[in-house]
Amino acid sequence: MYLSKEEERIYDGEAGWAKEISIKILVKLGEIFDAERLIPIESAHISGVSYKTAGDAAIDFLKSLVNAGGKVCVPSTLNPSSFDEKLKRLWCVPREYAEKQNTIIKLYENLGVNLTLTCTPYYIKRPRSRCHVAWAESSAIVYANSILNVYTNREGAPSALASAIIGKTPDYGLHRDENRRPNIQIIVDFKIKREDELGALGFHVGRLSKNFIPAIHGIEKLKEYELKLFGAAMAAGGMTPMFHIGYAKNNVERIHVGREEVNDVIERLSHEENEIDAVFIGCPHCSSLELNYIANMISGKKIKPDIKFIVCTSRFIAEKSREAVKVIKKAGGWVVCDTCLVVAYIEGLKIHSVLTNSVKAAYYLPSLGNVRVSLADMERCVKFAVGLT
Ligand code: F3S
Repeated sequence: MYLSKEEERIYDGEAGWAKEISIKILVKLGEIFDAERLIPIESAHISGVSYKTAGDAAIDFLKSLVNAGGKVCVPSTLNPSSFDEKLKRLWCVPREYAEKQNTIIKLYENLGVNLTLTCTPYYIKRPRSRCHVAWAESSAIVYANSILNVYTNREGAPSALASAIIGKTPDYGLHRDENRRPNIQIIVDFKIKREDELGALGFHVGRLSKNFIPAIHGIEKLKEYELKLFGAAMAAGGMTPMFHIGYAKNNVERIHVGREEVNDVIERLSHEENEIDAVFIGCPHCSSLELNYIANMISGKKIKPDIKFIVCTSRFIAEKSREAVKVIKKAGGWVVCDTCLVVAYIEGLKIHSVLTNSVKAAYYLPSLGNVRVSLADMERCVKFAVGLT
């Protein structure tokens, strides 16, 4: 892999250990994927924040970087952590656990990372089309490549952080136009009526596509927030980092998807809903539009006393949508920032069965949250929470 004089200097440790280890991570990655060089990036989005998933190893690594004077050199945002500071007591987060989580956040702050604590950094600042970034967080990666036309590979926590410190990423994969073309055609043979069908379709397409980039006919009329749900589910179902909407211009293999396959996914991920004790919306984190939609539906109503109604969003969006937040809280709902039910410390909530509109959440919650999950669209989730179904 070609390295400039300056990059070689960093590689040889002349700019300190933090930069040295970072460029070595990037060069190793570049060599694995046959990249010829490093290219500049405009931003990084870093995962590996929740203590629940990152653990003590993350603390040790971050400490070493901070002690070696590590600093990010491009605008860098942070994925959700494992609690909302304001609700920490209500969620019964143990003191030692909270301290470790706060240590992780503090270390990222010391590295110069913007403490956005959200999986939807594009709502805070929409990157410009065709720019190169290094993002971790699978749902944001799919959104960036497919909807924003921003170029990123599917980074992991270490490579996104290494890129943030060097300001570069290896030039391979989705950074190259020739690798962004669709190489499989998915044709949806039915009309998508509900969000859970949409998510299940995304999950199924993720499974089908494997490492291919699908062009998907049948999702042309979806709105941006629906594509967000679709893409998040797709990234949960497989490794696909990008999709195209409509027909591929080139001649590629075609696969038809019918309602039965999508219903199969729903049946596998969704259980009976007679014991539900929580409703969760906001995976990925809600936009202002979604918060307003929920607020409009819930206005003047009350959440059932035996239900926890949890809406997750970023602090930035909550601040921007103060009226909607007020309405949801007045109805008895929780607007939770900086975390989500999947990566949060939820043991203290004592919930056993969750209703959600997110297939990504439905896929991860049983293993990461030890809860059963039912799927429904947002409207039904809200109606259930206020006792209208
Ligand atoms: Fe975001 Fe948590 Fe879902 S990080 S994509 S809300 S699992």
